[in-house]
Amino acid sequence: MIRRQFLPQIPYGTKDFLPKEATHKRVMENSLAALFARWGYDEVVTPAFEYLETLNAGAGDGVAQGTFKFFDRNNNLLALRSDMTTPIARVAATRLKESNPPLRLFYLANVFRHEQAQAGRQCEFYQAGVELLGTGGPAADAEVVALAVEALAEAGLDNFKIGLGQVEFINGLMGESSLTPEDQQKIKHHLVARDLVGLGEALTVSGLGADAQRLIRHIPLWQGDDAVIQEAYGQVKNEVSRSALENLADIKRLLAGYGLERYIRFDLGLFRDLDYYTGMVFEAYTPGLGFPLCGGGRYDTMVAAFGIDCPATGFAFGIERVLLALERQGIDLPDPAKDVYIGWREGALPAAIAEATRRRQQGQAVELALEPATREAAKADQVAKGYARLLYVGDDSHVDES
Ligand code: HAM
Repeated sequence: MIRRQFLPQIPYGTKDFLPKEATHKRVMENSLAALFARWGYDEVVTPAFEYLETLNAGAGDGVAQGTFKFFDRNNNLLALRSDMTTPIARVAATRLKESNPPLRLFYLANVFRHEQAQAGRQCEFYQAGVELLGTGGPAADAEVVALAVEALAEAGLDNFKIGLGQVEFINGLMGESSLTPEDQQKIKHHLVARDLVGLGEALTVSGLGADAQRLIRHIPLWQGDDAVIQEAYGQVKNEVSRSALENLADIKRLLAGYGLERYIRFDLGLFRDLDYYTGMVFEAYTPGLGFPLCGGGRYDTMVAAFGIDCPATGFAFGIERVLLALERQGIDLPDPAKDVYIGWREGALPAAIAEATRRRQQGQAVELALEPATREAAKADQVAKGYARLLYVGDDSHVDES
């Protein structure tokens, strides 16, 4: 047989989770799944790839540029899911017919996007998230924001803030004007990128009146506590922007009921780079990480693409980003459990197997040597492998522990 040389590399933007990292990921996923279940959410698992058309129908064609696409044997165009919101909307559109709304669903899943990879930004990454479908009021939005805060706390973080915005605020301002949809998109694009120079230039050539230009230029600066809402309310006259501000104030009041308002900071300049949001949007930030830990918001028109009118809201957070934040903030996560290493002398394997079985049944993490060894050699193996104790099965199957 001819052995071919191959490069032991993995594709750009992917990563291996070695045992310690994989344990941290598993611990986090388990505790989040338990938290989501405590809030009444049921887990769903969907295929890693879907028809490209399905993903585009939910999230808009803009997302297609970032998706990994390929063909099946029948020449159908498929794509790896780039988030879980569209697949869940697709599932809900069929499931909602049978179940009583609201539908509360959660997921733990890998998703895929073409990205410029760096620490905290990969092409394959893991999300934990929830979607709350079938209800439109601020109570649902407050619930998902509260759950996002609880999820970050459950993961071990405390030092973080949630930025809370509303996409209808700027829609109201732009709706007052005669801007074309393309020009509106350009302005939003600069706001998403927080590119104030580009924003200024786009506004100058937009044909918008001086007042509207001044207000839109000011949007990224409207960040902070309740005073921001009051100030913005005093400056905008249109109903759409005003009810967006009222919606934010309502959500914040409900979050106070959860005892979580200290985490919340209004940010009227928060625009997410996914096009499907129709109302409240939010992101979480922590010091030392140049990216949001989580993001979400209301998307009331997506499920309609799959045949059912259904308001919805939700969020997802990036498992790797949270793990990175914990590491950078020096917050320890449990290492893989390594309780007992069992070594044995020639002929004592059956007794060693019996001892390993007994200990495993008690819930201990046990590694059993596969070859006989002296006590000293077994001790050296136990230490090298990082086990807390050595159990050595010696003459007459005598067991001693150290
Ligand atoms: P997103 O903001 O695109 O929202 O992603 C959510 C989270 O996934 C981010 O806050 C971040 O922690 C993580 N994330 C995003 N991109 C990357 C990347 N390239 N590498 C590592 N982590 C990343 C969504 O995906 C929406 N589906 C959230 C949502 C649910 N909205 C409503 N419901």
